[in-house]
Amino acid sequence: MTNTHPTYDLDACRRRIPLLASCIPMNNCSQAPQTDATRAAAERYLDSWNSSGMDWDAWMSEVSLAKAEFAKLIGATADDIAVFSSVSEAASAVASALPLQGRRTNIVVSDAEFPTVAHVWLAQERRGGRVSWAPVRDDADVSAYDALVDDQTALVSACHAYYMNGLIQDSPRIAAIARDAGALSFVDAYQSLGSVSLDVRALGVDFLASGNLKFLMGIPGIAFLYVRPEIVDTLQPSVTGWFGRVNPFAFDARSLDWSPTASRFDTGTPPVINAYIARAGMEIINALGPSNIRAWLVELGQRLIDGGRARGLVLHGSDDMRRKTATTAFVVGDSHAVEHAMRERGVIASARGDVIRLAPHFYSTTDDVDRALDVLADVVRTA
Ligand SMILES: Cc1ncc(COP(=O)(O)O)c(C=O)c1O
Repeated sequence: MTNTHPTYDLDACRRRIPLLASCIPMNNCSQAPQTDATRAAAERYLDSWNSSGMDWDAWMSEVSLAKAEFAKLIGATADDIAVFSSVSEAASAVASALPLQGRRTNIVVSDAEFPTVAHVWLAQERRGGRVSWAPVRDDADVSAYDALVDDQTALVSACHAYYMNGLIQDSPRIAAIARDAGALSFVDAYQSLGSVSLDVRALGVDFLASGNLKFLMGIPGIAFLYVRPEIVDTLQPSVTGWFGRVNPFAFDARSLDWSPTASRFDTGTPPVINAYIARAGMEIINALGPSNIRAWLVELGQRLIDGGRARGLVLHGSDDMRRKTATTAFVVGDSHAVEHAMRERGVIASARGDVIRLAPHFYSTTDDVDRALDVLADVVRTA
């Protein structure tokens, strides 16, 4: 039995997104649309800057509130969160805290990793690290990790959802394999957070990173990193700066003291306006409830899979909604030409390699999905 409405007020959600008046955004795996709240948040910062000239106390407290909002999304506390300007930067800070000397030099990396994260691990080969690759599996089989992870492994990095097609990896089991071998685990949740319900304790991971411009309704230029509190004391990232200190405002150039919380991973002056916008976006997700959003997206994802099949489109990856986000990819060949043609017909899709990704979100309707599929099928047919 399928539902045609989510448990929350879909019309009220849609009224908050001006872009819906002119097109169907199906590109949430790339950039979510602007909302009334995120726009107002940007204006709050601009107003504060304009009227006060400078208000560091308010600006820093906004960054703390953004950390707290991110923490709420993943079942952590603000003290477990550090802030960066990108996931690449967060991963680089984690990498810089790995000794990569002696026995544990191996980094096991998922083939599903977004390239930037893999690049950070590959760059560690210059410091003595060795990267080995675990293949992407459409089923939940994690035996490759069993074979690759051992007492020489420093870190296992496996994204939560694959950027190409939304495949959800078995993060709890992968993290358990890392833990049993005495290695750390890193999860990039950028392609799922905001569209699924996630709890870092249930995942059992040591690090979790995400930026905000996809399902968290934010913008580029900010990302958050969760660090499991039990390991914070053992880590001293060489990618650092004054905000990683016990008291950044002590202005003591000679003392490299480490904040006792995850803020030891903070670096320089944080991206303040982005924090305003990021918090407003995450508040929308937390208020609706990630599990309510996920329930609706399972309906829409299934509709994309079934509707794509009915229209003769070629699915990329798994058709099992228990193992994927609602981001659904179809093999189309020249995906950028298809993305362009779809945009001309009012549907914003997202091209990657030879696939077009259709990524609905909490505000999407079944009509949006049907229309996007119709347009895609038509564009592919007439190409
Ligand atoms: C899974 C995933 N990780 C990371 C990134 C990008 O990270 P960064 O914030 O370093 O640009 C993306 C896409 O932009 C992504 O889809």
